[in-house]
Amino acid sequence: PVKVYANQNEASVDVANRIASIIKKKQENGETAVLGLATGATPVKVYKELVRLHTEEGLSFKNVVTFNLDEYYPMKPDAPQSYVTFMNKNLFDHIDIPEENINIPDGTLPEEGIHAYCEAYEQKISNLGGIDIQLLGIGRTGHIGFNEPGSAPNSGTRLVVLDDLTRRDASRDFGGKENVPTKALTMGVGTIFKAKEIVLMAWNEKKAEIVKKAVEGEISSDIPATYLQLSDSVEFILDTDAASQLT
Ligand code: F6R
Repeated sequence: PVKVYANQNEASVDVANRIASIIKKKQENGETAVLGLATGATPVKVYKELVRLHTEEGLSFKNVVTFNLDEYYPMKPDAPQSYVTFMNKNLFDHIDIPEENINIPDGTLPEEGIHAYCEAYEQKISNLGGIDIQLLGIGRTGHIGFNEPGSAPNSGTRLVVLDDLTRRDASRDFGGKENVPTKALTMGVGTIFKAKEIVLMAWNEKKAEIVKKAVEGEISSDIPATYLQLSDSVEFILDTDAASQLT
C-alpha cells in the first residue's frame, strides 16, 4: 500500500512512532527489537524524532539491535562520509543503545574476507529472529540499499559496484564524483524481503519519477525497487511531491 502525507515531517513522526511501539511491545515481553536501518537524507527526521522520544519521553533502546543496510567499500568508519559516522551523528550518539547491538557492514575488510563476513551478517539477523521493521529510501536508479539495477530478487548481503548515477548523487558529500567509492557492501533484495515489515520512504519532487516506476512500473531487475510490489509487508510512505506522478 501507498500512504501519502502532506509533508515529510508528519510522515517521519508516524514512522518513528511505529518503530517506538515495536520497541515498547518487545520490551513488555522481555524481547529484543531488531531494526533494519538506512542512511542518506530520507530517514534523518525519523531518527530525529526517535532521539526526541528518547530524551523527552524516556523511550529506551536498551533492548534494540540494529542492522544497517549498507556501507561504502572501502570505507574507514571514522571518515566523515562513512555510514558509521552518519548513524552515530544522527542517532546512536544520542540514545542508550548498547554499542555491541549496532551492526553496520564493515568497509575495512580485506576483499577475501568479504564473503564469509556477509554470510555471518545474514546469519546474525536470522539468529535474532529476523528484522522486525526495515527502513528504506530509494535511489534515483531505483536501488534499495545499494541493490543497483541488475540485482536479483533473491540476492543476499554482498559486495556490489555502484551505479554511475548513484556516485554522481553522492559526489557532493565526497567533494567530487571521482572521490566516491566505486563499490559498497549491501544487504540483498532477498535479505530485505525477509523483514517482517518494510517501509520505503521518499520525499521531494526529485524522487517522483522513480517512485512512479517503483510503485506502478513493470517488475524488473532494471528497477530493483519494483520487486517490493511482490511483498505483502511493504508500505510506500510518500510526501505529496514524491507521490505527484502516481496515477
Ligand atoms: C542508504 C541506502 C540508499 C538510500 C538512497 C536514497 O543506506 O540504502 O538506498 O536510501 O540512495 O538516498 P537519499 O535518502 O539520500 O535520497
